[in-house]
Amino acid sequence: MTSDLFADEEQNRTWRDELCPDAVVLRHFAVAEQTAILAAIRDISDAAPFRHMLTPGGYSMSVAMTNCGAHGWVTDRLGYRYATLDPQSGKPWPPMPAVFRALARDAAASAGFEDFEPDACLINRYAPGARLSLHQDKNERDFAAPIVSVSLGIPAVFLFGGLQRRDKPLRVPLTHGDVVVWGGAARLRYHGVLPLKEGVHPLLGGQRINLTFRKAG
Ligand code: SIN
Ligand code: FE2
Repeated sequence: MTSDLFADEEQNRTWRDELCPDAVVLRHFAVAEQTAILAAIRDISDAAPFRHMLTPGGYSMSVAMTNCGAHGWVTDRLGYRYATLDPQSGKPWPPMPAVFRALARDAAASAGFEDFEPDACLINRYAPGARLSLHQDKNERDFAAPIVSVSLGIPAVFLFGGLQRRDKPLRVPLTHGDVVVWGGAARLRYHGVLPLKEGVHPLLGGQRINLTFRKAG
């Protein structure tokens, strides 16, 4: 019992780790709202199921994805882009839940980016072995707004690089509830995720889910 209480308290402790100017990890920032967040993810994925999208080169992505909000990030043989309709159903993506919007705005403000108005939330699901190679987020209309990236479930190693692909990335361990925010001078930094190791999380089992909030439109 004592150790459970201790673990709960440890989970709710928050602190920040600066990665570089205009980029910060808000540790455990999302833990307080985890129950509502996980319920919302279930509702969204009932309406718009996770799927392995195709890269423009024809490879199936190891990360399974869905979206909520007005704009959803998609990829297929035609390329990377935002779409207002889920190509699988032809219907709009599920709306962005209030708890998501509030979390993204609060995280952005804590990182120094006031009045973030996310209109896109990409939901990434990683099983062990899934990875995301180094890339820049650059399909958005303008780069004035930051990126807010929420980690849930089993731990991952986030790669946070520079403005050139060849810049050696930092290896940033991320655990359940951590939120990375990058914008301003860091907005176009390369980033990615190393292949996920096996693990078990009490709420999410053997998977990791990431929510990436952006202003796309
Ligand atoms: C992304 O870059 O879209 C996701 C990063 C992550 O899963 O932490
Ligand atoms: Fe990204």
